[in-house]
Amino acid sequence: MAQQNIYDNEIFFEGYKKIRDKEVNANNLFEMPALFFMMPNLEGKRVLDLGCGFGEHCKRFVDCGAERVVGVDISEKMLEVAMTENGDTRITYMNIPMEEIAQLQERFDIVISSLAFHYVEDFAGVVRNVYSLLDENGIFLFSQENPLCTCHSGGDRWTRDENGNKLHLNLSDYGVEGERESVWFVDGVKKYHRTFSTIINTLVETGFSIEKMIEPLPTEELLEKYPDYRDLFHKPDFLLIRARKLELELFKNLAEAEEDVSVQRTARINDTFTDIRTALEARRE
Ligand SMILES: C[S@@+](CC[C@H](N)C(=O)[O-])C[C@H]1O[C@@H](n2cnc3c(N)ncnc32)[C@H](O)[C@@H]1O
Repeated sequence: MAQQNIYDNEIFFEGYKKIRDKEVNANNLFEMPALFFMMPNLEGKRVLDLGCGFGEHCKRFVDCGAERVVGVDISEKMLEVAMTENGDTRITYMNIPMEEIAQLQERFDIVISSLAFHYVEDFAGVVRNVYSLLDENGIFLFSQENPLCTCHSGGDRWTRDENGNKLHLNLSDYGVEGERESVWFVDGVKKYHRTFSTIINTLVETGFSIEKMIEPLPTEELLEKYPDYRDLFHKPDFLLIRARKLELELFKNLAEAEEDVSVQRTARINDTFTDIRTALEARRE
């Protein structure tokens, strides 16, 4: 499965960098504050950052006390910036796709990923590898484009009034998972849509427990300065999830308990059917 490396495209890279260089953008106003709000204490921790981009988060992790940080990204151009602007002796930047992190020879207390998973086709594979690289009770914290955004497959995203104001979101193909192609600086930018249930079930079935989810919304204070962000009440741009790797024994016990419950439930349903059948036959007689 070949991964897309759109951030190494010159035009895409320059366009993206311009947006990130602006002080006011959705990342700085919503995604980053939520991500760091959900971040556990980093003091003395080993952190892996998947799709680390310019390395801004990696630098902040060491500034917050992380002992070691590994930042992985598929894009050479993004990592060039990371190394020149956000280098540190405690950070190692690696130019590999996150689908290949199984090759890492170390373990981590925290794995994070900020706005990169919607570029990844094999989400379940990455989650399995994250699980293997984390110590028991380790934290897996990530953000991605909200599934209400990634589902978009064409046409106008919004229904607007005669003055162009957004009235409501045009939602379609939410239940159709998989690749979407869009135009963002260049044609043919590939992203992958997954429903909320697929994301949650993938984590739970791999052995994570979900601790918190946030879909950041603007405060009234923020809206006074930037009223355009009111549309986030119709469609949050981001989804953030914090999960914890369950201890293996606990995970096995939970899985067995769930199986027991489901066997009991099936037995109860069968009993009910037998009762109904008996009652119907008694009535017919
Ligand atoms: C939107 S940027 C986010 C960068 C950074 N995490 C941040 O929040 O500032 C997405 C990053 O994910 C990287 N990326 C996309 N697909 C990837 C993959 N399969 N493996 C590793 N990195 C990937 C891109 O190269 C890019 O640097």
